Amino acid sequence: MNGSGLILGIETSCDETAAAVVARGVDIRSSVVSSQVDLHARFGGVVPEIASRAHVELLTPVVAEALVESGAEGPEMQAVAATVGPGLVGSLLVGVAGAKALALVWGLPFVGVNHLEAHLVSSFVEDPTLELPVVALLVSGGHTMLVAVEDVGRYRLLGSTLDDAAGEAFDKVARYLGLGYPGGPAIDRLAIAGDPAAIPFPRALLDQGYDFSFSGLKTAVVTYVRQHPDAATEDVAASFQQAVVDVLVAKARRAAREVGATSIALGGGVAANSALREAVLDACTADGLAAFLPSRAMCTDNAAMVAAAAWWRLEHDGPTPLDAGVEPNLRLPVV
Ligand code: KG4
Ligand code: ZN
Repeated sequence: MNGSGLILGIETSCDETAAAVVARGVDIRSSVVSSQVDLHARFGGVVPEIASRAHVELLTPVVAEALVESGAEGPEMQAVAATVGPGLVGSLLVGVAGAKALALVWGLPFVGVNHLEAHLVSSFVEDPTLELPVVALLVSGGHTMLVAVEDVGRYRLLGSTLDDAAGEAFDKVARYLGLGYPGGPAIDRLAIAGDPAAIPFPRALLDQGYDFSFSGLKTAVVTYVRQHPDAATEDVAASFQQAVVDVLVAKARRAAREVGATSIALGGGVAANSALREAVLDACTADGLAAFLPSRAMCTDNAAMVAAAAWWRLEHDGPTPLDAGVEPNLRLPVV
């Protein structure tokens, strides 16, 4: 593709307002993320109406900052991209409307991006030399998927969660333990002081297939704490976290063997979890695989991954028509 290779990416699918400028899908020139976490914390979760209103307020300053930091002017971009789904409809609309308006004003193509593909592509942004096929474990607040990445754009879904997403389980357990929102980072921090072997929580479907189930584990934590009110919260957090990590790593490892992958990549907010990162590294070392762990900033929602995914999509599919809408239930395109 000719041109500057610069893409302005916008991400507003949930509670992060983000904008980034990335060159040719790999070179991050700027990445600005404004989290709304404080606005939603007192409600114990994301309130969709509050999220979309905050995106309206934050989008323009966040885009302006991303442009200034990149050192490039808007019209120098080759395209403007935004997440079109999955996500909260009102939040998605803010980012998509903003991106389309900028594309129109600057006379540039618009590229609609699948948020799940963006999380997968985040592996390539930081390590373009990653060898394929890769088994990618995509673990976020809304999704838990094990995917064989045969090429960018060629994904084979091996398994997904039958009930709660991994991040959702972290958030629900943290809420029950009174640790606040978002729960993942709170449990991660507390677990450092706890014993991961203290409580034998269940590992659902450990040796069966590639699907996951976390709702039984959440119930097991609640039941345990009711029966043992004096149990140390650190031990409960560490034991819960270990149960999640054991299942995620066992399946990713088995999948890598079956698919003939040379590496395991992590993506999504839960990929920021210290215990998960350490366990994936250990498993890869033991199995002779490469581990690809994106930086914590690339794991959680950001717009650099959106701009990177847009580069691949623009190359393969061309621009997205300006009359295309948002898709709150969009799935990963699989083969
Ligand atoms: O990818 P993400 O930022 O947004 C979605 O697309 O869902 O993921 C957010 C999720 C939340 O459930 C949050 O609790 C979890 O990622 N998370 C973590 C950690 N940091 C964020 N879970 C476990 N350990 C962490 N360190
Ligand atoms: Zn996400």
